[in-house]
Amino acid sequence: MFRRSGPSDCEITWNGATIPARQGESLAAALLAAGVTHFRDTAVSGSPRGPFCMMGACFDCLVEVGGVANLQACLVPVTPGLEARMQIGARAAGN
Ligand code: FES
Repeated sequence: MFRRSGPSDCEITWNGATIPARQGESLAAALLAAGVTHFRDTAVSGSPRGPFCMMGACFDCLVEVGGVANLQACLVPVTPGLEARMQIGARAAGN
């Protein structure tokens, strides 16, 4: 669906799998370029969600990054070695 216009220059981890990325691009862009479209499941119905607006307005792209939940993947810049995971349901209290 999406194709990267330039070469990747680093790697990140998504659900334990290594994928190519570019430093500074958004995590959402890196995941979409790698073919990932399912970022989270909703807390109420468990429905799958992926990025929609790519500008921080819809909150459909929530993920866990470095163990921190509820981060918008479209607003998280890629850094080498970044570790992200799918967010399933609501975050636990205190996280
Ligand atoms: S894609 Fe809409 S907030 Fe990230």
